[in-house]
Amino acid sequence: MKDTLNRIEAAALQSAAEVVSEAELQQVRARYLGRKGEITAVMKGMGQLSAEERPQVGALANEVKDRLEAAFTERQNELRNQAMQLKLVSERLDVTLPGRRQRHGSRHPITQVTEEIVAIFAALGFGVAEGPEIEKDFYNFEALNIPKDHPARDMQDTFYVSEDVVLRTHTSPVQIRTMLQQQPPVRVVAPGTVYRRDSDITHSPMFHQIEGFLVDRTVTFGDLKGILTTFVTECFGQNTAVRFRPSFFPFTEPSAEVDIQCVICGGSGCRVCGQSGWLEILGSGMIDPEVFKSVGYDPELYSGFAFGMGIERIAMLKYGVNDLRLFFENDLRFLKQF
Ligand code: DAH
Repeated sequence: MKDTLNRIEAAALQSAAEVVSEAELQQVRARYLGRKGEITAVMKGMGQLSAEERPQVGALANEVKDRLEAAFTERQNELRNQAMQLKLVSERLDVTLPGRRQRHGSRHPITQVTEEIVAIFAALGFGVAEGPEIEKDFYNFEALNIPKDHPARDMQDTFYVSEDVVLRTHTSPVQIRTMLQQQPPVRVVAPGTVYRRDSDITHSPMFHQIEGFLVDRTVTFGDLKGILTTFVTECFGQNTAVRFRPSFFPFTEPSAEVDIQCVICGGSGCRVCGQSGWLEILGSGMIDPEVFKSVGYDPELYSGFAFGMGIERIAMLKYGVNDLRLFFENDLRFLKQF
C-alpha cells in the first residue's frame, strides 16, 4: 500500500507539472484529492489493513496528501503568474505613444463667406431673413415686376416644379415675403440657396446668393452707394476701388451693377477681368414703385434700395479660386485650406 501511495504521489506530481492552465490543474486535484480521488480511495481501503500497518499507512497517506496539497497550491500560483505575464505582454500599452487625435471639421468656405457678409451688414444695422427654396411664381417673379412672358424669365433658366411653383432662381422673393410681413423701416439681408438650369466652370445649378434691402422714408441712391461701398471695402480691403455702372433689373429703377477693381491684377487688366481691370460683384438699384405696390407699401411715402450677389463669386474672388465646382465637390484637401 505504501508503494501504491508513492506511485500515486509521483503520478500526481507529474500530472501537476504537465498541466498548462488552472482549470486543468483543478481536474488533476480532483482526480487525486477529490472525494472520489485516488488518495481518498486508498484511505477508504485502510480498513482492511492490520492494526500495525494501519497507523503507518494512515500517517503516510496524510503526508502524501499534505505534500500534494502544497504542490498543487504552488503549481496554481505558478500558473496564475504565467497567465498574468502573458496578459501583461499581450495587452501592453505604450503610454508614450501620441494620442489619436479627433479630427475637427470646419465650416465650408461658402458658409464662412456668407457669415462674413452677414456680419458686415449686421454691423450696419441689418437683420437677417430667410425664405423657402421652393417658391411660388408670385414671390419669385410676379411681385418683383416680372410678369408672365417677361423676357427676364428666360434669363433666369428656371426649374419649374409646377406651373406656378419654382425652385427659386434668386433670393429676391425674400424681399417680397419680408415686406408683406413688416412695415418700414426695414433693413434686412437674406442669404440662401438658389437654383438655375445652368452648369459649367462658372455656373452651378445650385448656388448661393445674399439679398439685401432697406426701406424707409427718405432713402436715396446716395444711401445705396454709401452702404455698398462700405460693404466692398469691408469685404475686399480698404483700398479696393468701386464703381457703379448703370444696368437694368425689373424690380429696381434706376439699377446699377457694382464692380470692384480686379483683385487679381489690381486693375491693370488680366484674363480674369477680361482686360477691363474691373469685376462685377453685385446687382442693385432703387426698389421699383411697382414692387412697393405689390406688397402694399405706398411708393409716395417710402423709398428703398436693394441688392443681390452670388456668394460663390465673392468667395472665388476673395480666395482666388478659379473653378466654381471646387466648392461643391467636397474634396477635403480643398476644403481644409479655408
Ligand atoms: N435677383 C438678381 C439676380 O439674381 C440680383 C439682384 C439685382 C438683386 C438687383 C437685387 C437687385 O435685389 O436690386 O440676378
